Amino acid sequence: MNMIFQTADNFKEVINRPIKKVPSLRDITIANLFFENSTRTRISFELAEKRLSADVVNFSASSSSVKKGETLLDTVNNILAMKVDMVVMRHPMPGAHVFLSKHIDAQIINAGDGTHEHPTQALLDCFSLREKFGEIKGLKVVIVGDITHSRVALSNILALQKLGANVRVCGPPTLIPRHLHELGVEVSHDLLDSLRWCDAANMLRIQLERQDIKYFPTLREYAMLYGLNQAMLEKVGKELVILHPGPINRGIEITSEVADSDQAIILDQVQNGVAVRMAVLYLLAGSKGG
Ligand code: CP
Repeated sequence: MNMIFQTADNFKEVINRPIKKVPSLRDITIANLFFENSTRTRISFELAEKRLSADVVNFSASSSSVKKGETLLDTVNNILAMKVDMVVMRHPMPGAHVFLSKHIDAQIINAGDGTHEHPTQALLDCFSLREKFGEIKGLKVVIVGDITHSRVALSNILALQKLGANVRVCGPPTLIPRHLHELGVEVSHDLLDSLRWCDAANMLRIQLERQDIKYFPTLREYAMLYGLNQAMLEKVGKELVILHPGPINRGIEITSEVADSDQAIILDQVQNGVAVRMAVLYLLAGSKGG
């Protein structure tokens, strides 16, 4: 991970120059396959690829022959037949990228697979924390909210622990998987206590689109118990760094006042996402066949 961060440091310097492009991936073709909605990840990968001078093709399931019944494997094989070198894929099914990697000979980057993982989000979150605190080892990070349906949560837990952080999750019992403590994270249902404990809080979105049953009585009640607002921050009584992977449900997991405050590094996360994804693409392209 440190190699990714050091490479991202260099690319962050590049994308802040007047000429933001380097020729590192010239003649490499990358397909961005999005079978699920995305704003940040899709644009961030596309910008990262273009800043590296790759050729880019974009695919979105809603306007493709997937709608006519084509399978994932057929879709991807047809795209690869057009001589694509790397695939960035978001898919609603957990493990879809693993399935593909067993059937096709191309570099595949997971841009979010259902409720499972979102590795580049965790990398950019950790990179942003490293930028803010200098190092992650020993840092206390709480991940708050809908842990059950969040791919960001699992990837963050794994990445933060690997980097030596102490990780806690906080949310209503119905939104925290029963065996999560087996990953070595603390589990809490008390937001104020968790905020007093932590150095940084990552506020997750309530993923209503993935909830087939009611996990809490009302959004209003959720916001009262687990939403981050200015009054709660004043009770905490110390400075915290606040993250959110986006998209934000303003007024539910976080108020606008907090999301737009100096304590929140939400737009830094987005900016860092481009540099981190450039690093991932560059390092993966370099490892091909080597
Ligand atoms: N953070 C994130 O994955 O956002 P998008 O769904 O907009 O890509």
